[in-house]
Amino acid sequence: MVAHQTAEIEDDIRRAFLAAPGFMPVEEGEALHRAAVDAARLGLPLLEVGTYCGRSTILLAAAARAAGVLCVTVDHHRGSEEQQPGWEYHDPSLVDPDVGLMDTLPAFRRTLHHAGLEDHVLALVGRSPQAAALWGAPLGLVFVDGGHTDEHAAADYEGWTPHLAPGGLLVIHDVFPDPADGGQAPYRIWLRAVESGRFEEAGREGSLRILRRV
Ligand SMILES: C[S@@+](CC[C@H](N)C(=O)[O-])C[C@H]1O[C@@H](n2cnc3c(N)ncnc32)[C@H](O)[C@@H]1O
Repeated sequence: MVAHQTAEIEDDIRRAFLAAPGFMPVEEGEALHRAAVDAARLGLPLLEVGTYCGRSTILLAAAARAAGVLCVTVDHHRGSEEQQPGWEYHDPSLVDPDVGLMDTLPAFRRTLHHAGLEDHVLALVGRSPQAAALWGAPLGLVFVDGGHTDEHAAADYEGWTPHLAPGGLLVIHDVFPDPADGGQAPYRIWLRAVESGRFEEAGREGSLRILRRV
């Protein structure tokens, strides 16, 4: 395949992004895609925590395809706390009627198939800290959009950022400095990263924060 490394989202990928269930607004998706195109120049895999139905995955995967690298995405596919029945972000159409639990894996596979990106994604089905503990390769990008409790966000930060190569990008979703706007766990790991001295700011869009590993 001929690489066409543009920061523009291709039309078919944009359509698949818009059609996929998920929570990421278009402007944040565009910023995530630009970050992925930038990071993919390192020639290293792009890692996502929090696949859900693949809405953000396909943006990373399109950038990965253009650069000839792999997108790796990890999720247990049982949904986060706020996606469970009775909570704000619950989608009853994503419950497996046989087992009575959330299962976003079939929707994710449909999203990936419709976007034509199956060959460029390695999907890990399981818990993020367990995958991070086994992981041994340097990464060009780490996108943290998994569990939004302090326990989960901290584990994602501690588990995956040590694998980020110098010059690689750490992208965190749902960073809300004001508690009135949303939960604070992603904001707290963003603060940890900034205060660690290991990262410099590389961009922001909405609740998306982009940091470069120095
Ligand atoms: C906010 S959604 C991800 C949204 C997705 N990035 C998008 O833009 O469409 C969070 C996802 O993280 C997953 N998740 C939460 N905690 C996790 C953990 N400890 N390990 C793996 N996946 C987890 C949930 O199952 C859920 O699908």
